[in-house]
Amino acid sequence: MILVIDFGSQYNQLIARRVRELHVFCRIEPPDISMDAVQKLHPRGIILSGGPSSIYEKKSPKTDPALFSLGIPVLGICYGMQFMVHALGGSVTRSEKREYGYATLKVKKRTGLFSGIPGKTQCWMSHGDSIQSLPPGFEVTASTENTPVAATAQAERKLFGLQFHPEVHHTPQGKKILKNFLFKICGCKPTWTMTSFAREMTQEIRKTVGDAKILLGLSGGVDSSVTAVLVHRAVGENLTCIFVDNGLLRKDEAKNLKKAFSEHMHIRIRFVRAGRKFLSALKGVSDPEKKRKIIGRLFMEVFEAEARKIQNVKFLAQGTLYPDVIESLSAFGGPSSVIKSHHNVGGLPRKMKLKLVEPLRYLFKDEVRVLGKKLGLADEWIWRHPFPGPGLAIRIIGTVTRNRLSILRRVDAILDEEIRAAGLYKKLWQSFPVLLPLKSVGIMGDQRTYENIAAIRAVTSKDAMTADWARLPHVLLGRISNRIINEVRGVNRVVYDISSKPPSTIEWE
Ligand code: XMP
Repeated sequence: MILVIDFGSQYNQLIARRVRELHVFCRIEPPDISMDAVQKLHPRGIILSGGPSSIYEKKSPKTDPALFSLGIPVLGICYGMQFMVHALGGSVTRSEKREYGYATLKVKKRTGLFSGIPGKTQCWMSHGDSIQSLPPGFEVTASTENTPVAATAQAERKLFGLQFHPEVHHTPQGKKILKNFLFKICGCKPTWTMTSFAREMTQEIRKTVGDAKILLGLSGGVDSSVTAVLVHRAVGENLTCIFVDNGLLRKDEAKNLKKAFSEHMHIRIRFVRAGRKFLSALKGVSDPEKKRKIIGRLFMEVFEAEARKIQNVKFLAQGTLYPDVIESLSAFGGPSSVIKSHHNVGGLPRKMKLKLVEPLRYLFKDEVRVLGKKLGLADEWIWRHPFPGPGLAIRIIGTVTRNRLSILRRVDAILDEEIRAAGLYKKLWQSFPVLLPLKSVGIMGDQRTYENIAAIRAVTSKDAMTADWARLPHVLLGRISNRIINEVRGVNRVVYDISSKPPSTIEWE
């Protein structure tokens, strides 16, 4: 296992990714982690990430310098290196000018970290401060034109520093350098795979849960689906999933879920049909935040009432992923300001005295997909587009009625079918229709119509933080529009949303 200390770099998740791609498990922890905690984790090596601060800033993140005396190899990257040099008696100069971009690295010592690396290679720089003098015992192992100390090593104590970023693709030898650190210096073995993760996690869940009962809110999304299958493998019948049909779901959602999870995988699911309750609470409400609040609160209520019917429940499983964990742990930035309120069952564990089980909390999304596949989950569930908790209610602008839900559901089914048929489903982050609170005039046959407008939204994205509107082929857009207007009574106009995030959001509400 490798421990990454997070000094706030935008690249810290990339470091973890690179390490895991080399089949070594890796965890990211904040700088204030205690040395006791570090030792308990038994890391084979420690990587200090980069960060936006200068070590001379009062509030710059610091970790206990005792870290360098634990006998564990350390690799400092950018700020991580400057922190190490400063902590061990070297000095760092503040520079006015940032060095940002490609540089040619001249490697002086082609051993250790640089074993097998060409004497001259490209690297990616992104720093303000630079090393001025090194602590005793350290030597310069590489430099660039602007940065005399681009890399340093104290080979005896296995302490290494890089001013450039080996974790980004712009440093072509970066992976090899990390490989040298993991395997040559730390003595790691490339044994971490999804199969080993599934095996170990199953045992851990079994040990934690024992004979007690564990609950899971199954939504049919990738994360809760994979969690359900994993926990079910560990504890079988002791897992009960609760699926709340809030009446705001897509066509055939409950039916498909029942087939896949109850009938094929024999997972115990309690289906709660609460559509009427949600619709009556939403009656006359058009404010987006109010809709979200009502749906969130009702969901909690319905979920809790159902949960209380089950005896001997001690645990609640949740499909929390690593990026959420890191975000909430990070000493920097913290949780970003609430732009839209998201609902989940976050309050339930305390209220019902349940312990949380989060088996995916160290995985990234694509790793969760690999895990799902290994656990036998069909592609249909693994590659699903995200669907918001408040469901179709936030895709119906204005008030939500049974009739408008039915119109949107039919439009949604056509869009989904066409996007899949065009082979674009996996390439898009999301595609969905939005029903507008506007009517427009049209002509059908010889009749004048005055009907609804449906907007189509399709975006590409890596993580939903930013998104670009998808350049769908015009022929496909034409077919989608044609089918919707012909097949869905109540819609006579289709428009395409060409806004990106930011400044727009993916959902309309
Ligand atoms: P926005 O609209 O904020 O959406 O750009 C970013 C991503 O989050 C999804 N989303 C939600 N997911 N509960 C969820 O589980 C919610 O309340 C919610 N609101 C937005 C959205 O579909 C997109 O993928």
